[in-house]
Amino acid sequence: MNDLDPNKTLLISPERIQKRVGEMGKEISEIFLGKDPIFIGVLNGSFIFLADLLRTISIDCEMDFIKVRSYVGKESSGTIQLIKDISANVTNRHVILVEDIIDSGNTIQFLRERVNSANPKSISVATFLLKPEIAKINFQVDFIGFEIPPEFVVGYGLDFNQKYRHLNGIYLLGNEPA
Ligand code: IMP
Ligand code: MG
Repeated sequence: MNDLDPNKTLLISPERIQKRVGEMGKEISEIFLGKDPIFIGVLNGSFIFLADLLRTISIDCEMDFIKVRSYVGKESSGTIQLIKDISANVTNRHVILVEDIIDSGNTIQFLRERVNSANPKSISVATFLLKPEIAKINFQVDFIGFEIPPEFVVGYGLDFNQKYRHLNGIYLLGNEPA
């Protein structure tokens, strides 16, 4: 990947990302002061966002991961498989689910219901990206990094067939074979 790569167009620069993530961390720290929240990152996509976000948090907190699979290539498979459940006990805790992107909304809907069955004190959702024109969800997304058009993007943890997660910015992906 370099600047001459015809297949990727920069959508969100690394500088804008770091600024926005800092703002989100500040807001979350203010809202959850004294509540000892537990951040639950959705693997694999959220690992970079969660790592950056946590380092901007200025209050006591914990973290864990959950892993699901719903996408193959650029398409949502429609069914969500739980691959790794949370290890922490979230009963009576303030839970913040951390997603890389909300596209159809299927994954976050599934995860909210899953976590809710453990009777947390509250569940909030922090997503780095949201595609508002596509997402069908019946709850509020509490913290949103950026709203983007309904295009497939990569970088900052997001992949296309496991590639491009390491890129520092968010890129629109051109017409690669799915
Ligand atoms: P949803 O269930 O359709 O909301 O999709 C959620 C998951 O699909 C996200 O957590 C991502 O892992 C993946 N995904 C959705 N849109 C994109 C995209 O544009 N690029 C990379 N991954 C995506
Ligand atoms: Mg994901």
